Amino acid sequence: MGSTAATSPGSLLIANARIATMLGGSPYGLVENGAVLVADGNIAWVGPMREAPGAHRQIDAEGRLLTPGLIDCHTHLVYAGDRAHEFELRLKGVSYSDIAKAGGGILSTVRATRAASESDLLSSSMPRLDRLLAEGVTTVEIKSGYGLDVETELKMLRVARTLGRQRPVDIRTTFLGAHAFPPEFKENRSAYVRLVCQEALPSAVKEGLVDAVDAFCETIAFSLDETAEIFKAALAHNIPVKLHAEQLSNMGGAKLAARYGAISCDHLEYLDDSGVAALTAASTVAVLLPGAFYYLREKQLPPVAELRRQGVPIALATDLNPGSSPVHSLLTIMNMGCVLFGLTAEESVRAVTVNAARALRLEDRGDIAPGRKADLVLWDLEAPGHLAYALGFNPHHRTFKAGRELSQ
Ligand code: NIG
Ligand code: FE
Repeated sequence: MGSTAATSPGSLLIANARIATMLGGSPYGLVENGAVLVADGNIAWVGPMREAPGAHRQIDAEGRLLTPGLIDCHTHLVYAGDRAHEFELRLKGVSYSDIAKAGGGILSTVRATRAASESDLLSSSMPRLDRLLAEGVTTVEIKSGYGLDVETELKMLRVARTLGRQRPVDIRTTFLGAHAFPPEFKENRSAYVRLVCQEALPSAVKEGLVDAVDAFCETIAFSLDETAEIFKAALAHNIPVKLHAEQLSNMGGAKLAARYGAISCDHLEYLDDSGVAALTAASTVAVLLPGAFYYLREKQLPPVAELRRQGVPIALATDLNPGSSPVHSLLTIMNMGCVLFGLTAEESVRAVTVNAARALRLEDRGDIAPGRKADLVLWDLEAPGHLAYALGFNPHHRTFKAGRELSQ
């Protein structure tokens, strides 16, 4: 299989690597002393070094660990302003919900984001994305949801897409018009749901800016019925749905999302056993967000043992946002997934590769196999589980994005 790929101009052999393919029955699908052949942006061959085909060019990994590019499958990294003052308020005992009810929280970021120009939004968001890329992230999901009007929701999604053109990363954009009720619709919720379904979403779809639709289903946000309206509108455009569900209370959002075939349900601290069963039946990915759990000092742990027992794929993400999770490090999140939520190190690696790809319905990445996109990362580490071990230490060596080697 390697022969045509090997001779194709620009083919590259990454030689002498310890490869975590994330495939097969063995831990991490490890290939010791292995090699990967990359051609035309894709993986053409993977196997032991002694069987490696020739290539146009070769890079010696010198025994380093090679993993799939990391995937951050849930972020809100396009926003203006910050919420540092709310962090201080929370340290003094004011709750996230109380801040939201008083018009702060998400709405305070909405005010700043509406006021920002598209270019200011782009330049303030870029350094956040760069922090992620510096840790071997090659695919990032970014949500709207700090506009809550047609114009600003579209502005956010455009900025997210522009980030993907200006940096070597794939950006998936999620429409989150149903993140909060804007002040001008506080007394007329149904009119806002109509605006989202009949104006904002269709305009964003028309511009080709929507890969998925999300909502925040919570007592302080959208009800089950309102969420169902949003989902119906999404499916009418053939766009898959996901949901912020069971973060602060058990509303049954996950069951609702599963009924609509959600690709992921995210947060899930308050998910009960029947909610887990609903996710299993719908093959929905559970995206856990320990950054928000940590920052909000939550006590309720997501039902990891039950998710495991029922075979629900678990992903982890930064949830990078200015309020509940100003976390710019997916490696830190992997550590938190282990220490706070009880994942194994291997589960944490799977959670930011294979399962994060599933949470975005991306079938061409997340593991290392022929035919997959050549999003690959070399680490100054001996074993993949060590990715979750240290805090504040970045073992990243170099990234290959669609086979292209990025400068270090
Ligand atoms: O995922 N839960 C709702 N949305 C975000 C928080 C957004 C914010 O506080 O600005 C989250 O945690
Ligand atoms: Fe979120």
